[in-house]
Amino acid sequence: MSPLNITHVVVIALTAVFLLVALDRAGELRGPQAAYVPPPKPAPAPVVDPDKGKPPPHNDTVEDLPAGKGREVTFYTCTACHGVALIKAQGLTRDLWDSSIDLMIEKHRMPPPKPEERTEVLDYLAEQFPPRRRGRGADNPFLK
Ligand code: HEC
Repeated sequence: MSPLNITHVVVIALTAVFLLVALDRAGELRGPQAAYVPPPKPAPAPVVDPDKGKPPPHNDTVEDLPAGKGREVTFYTCTACHGVALIKAQGLTRDLWDSSIDLMIEKHRMPPPKPEERTEVLDYLAEQFPPRRRGRGADNPFLK
């Protein structure tokens, strides 16, 4: 018998590694595995509007708007997010009030009013808050 030479050592070592890997693959070298338990599914995100049911951030009432046709519908359409002061501070043409409503819908995500309500609101706003002719800024060219 020839003495163990380097080739034998390498062949034996490789065989041992191969066997260990094969046994490990077969699961022989590991204890019983816990059955796979899928992680609990996260609860579905609530689809409710977080602001739903919250009172509006002001104490204004319908009477805080000047009396006129369409006052109520305007109040309930326009004061869910802000008080009447923001509205009363504006004096706009009918066209600009119309764009203002679009802005509230597009930028501030106001729920679009029904067409007939929108017309009523627009009539009210245009009549009650027209562009101001006198007063502060009337003769300021930069505010024209
Ligand atoms: C969904 C919420 C929401 C509704 C409903 C709403 N607005 Fe606004 N509005 C805002 C926000 C937000 C601002 C920005 C000012 C602020 O910080 O309060 C604003 C500002 C304004 C301003 C100030 C000027 C400007 O253009 O920023 C006016 C005027 C105005 N709104 C009018 C109206 C009118 C008229 C209605 C009803 C047709 C209305 N808003 C309904 C959210 C709303």
